[in-house]
Amino acid sequence: MTRESHIQELFAERIGGRNYGKATAIYKFEKIKRAKRAALAAHPGAEILDMGVGEPDEMAFPEVVAKLEQEARKPENRGYSDNGDNILKEAAARYLEKVCGVPGINPETEVLHSIGSKAALSILPAALINPGDYVLMTTPGYPVFGTHSKYYRGLVHNLPLVRANGFLPDLDSVPVEVLQKAKVLVINYPNNPTGGSATPEFFAKVVAFAKKHRIAVIHDAAYAGLVFEGKPLSFLATPGAKEVGIELHSTSKSFNMTGWRCGFAAGNELLVKAYGDVKDNTDSGQFLAIQHAAAHGFDHPEITEKIAAKYSRRMSALVQVLAQAGFQARKPKGSFFLYVKAPRAAVKSDGQRIEFASAEEISQWLIGEKLISTVPWDDAGAYLRFSVTFVAKNEADEKRILDEIQRRLGGLKFTF
Ligand SMILES: Cc1ncc(COP(=O)(O)O)c(C=O)c1O
Repeated sequence: MTRESHIQELFAERIGGRNYGKATAIYKFEKIKRAKRAALAAHPGAEILDMGVGEPDEMAFPEVVAKLEQEARKPENRGYSDNGDNILKEAAARYLEKVCGVPGINPETEVLHSIGSKAALSILPAALINPGDYVLMTTPGYPVFGTHSKYYRGLVHNLPLVRANGFLPDLDSVPVEVLQKAKVLVINYPNNPTGGSATPEFFAKVVAFAKKHRIAVIHDAAYAGLVFEGKPLSFLATPGAKEVGIELHSTSKSFNMTGWRCGFAAGNELLVKAYGDVKDNTDSGQFLAIQHAAAHGFDHPEITEKIAAKYSRRMSALVQVLAQAGFQARKPKGSFFLYVKAPRAAVKSDGQRIEFASAEEISQWLIGEKLISTVPWDDAGAYLRFSVTFVAKNEADEKRILDEIQRRLGGLKFTF
């Protein structure tokens, strides 16, 4: 018997302790990857229609790339940027005012860059969470703040997002004993994965809730700019929001800059300061050339409008395709996600009936049988998430892909 490395005994409980790496459970995204590989092996040369991708299909706009190149050549941008210079902070304040209708953000004290919203969500729990403190998170959702809160022995209370409530959490449902220990509410609109959008009334309710229960609010606005009608809705535009919370903006989705890793946190001065203090002990700041290119983006919101117009066009077409196949598909007001109820069964044209016990089961079946990849969510009802960031060479190719989905789903009857 080979002796186990002593390293195995060293891992912290938060990642599994001495059992770290030994779990045999396979997680959702790995299952999807494996199913895609198996489908391709079974159908060599076939095309997988990949509706599961969670990031933009295109590069950053040429003018932003040009700005990066210019800025990367400046010697003064070369070093550690720490908590950043004023360029992105000022652009962020202008963006919040012009695009989101949030005047009066002080770029010096109420804005700080992030190395992406994920990084900010992983840093903030260190500033807020003591053992036993509760975080209110929405589910299904982006789990990073909750994961890090648990690292600090915080507790997560999940608020389900259901269609009947417009995919907004029911704040009145939080039990008193949770509320007493709750420190933070994390929300995200337009929402991943539900595509739900907030309303000014909901945000006003959030501010009142946070004040009443002395809770901080973190609004993850990673998809803020990607709206199909009107202007992005900022939490900070709500009266009183700055007294209770901060908002995280990101260039990843709004400017096709996922790999660049840049965004900002803005809002409550004390929260921004605490974020900055922990951040300063965590990273040495994003490359200033990237921050300056990001600032150029925030000063050119027409870039985001073009990206959103493309997603809107694709979304309308996908809604039609899925509706024809029997899904209850409704176009969201923003994001790039179409979240549809997962069927309980599919009946083929020869009468064969296939039952699905979960969204994961039908998602696996769709990959294996139809070579259509989606992301299943079984957290608050069984749903499939289709993303309109699939790769297409041009608009004609986009249409071809959507027609092909229609063709592959044709002849099936779904029951819900
Ligand atoms: C809801 C949500 N928040 C944050 C992120 C991460 O954003 P960033 O690339 O800025 O770290 C994502 C990315 O998928 C997301 O879906």
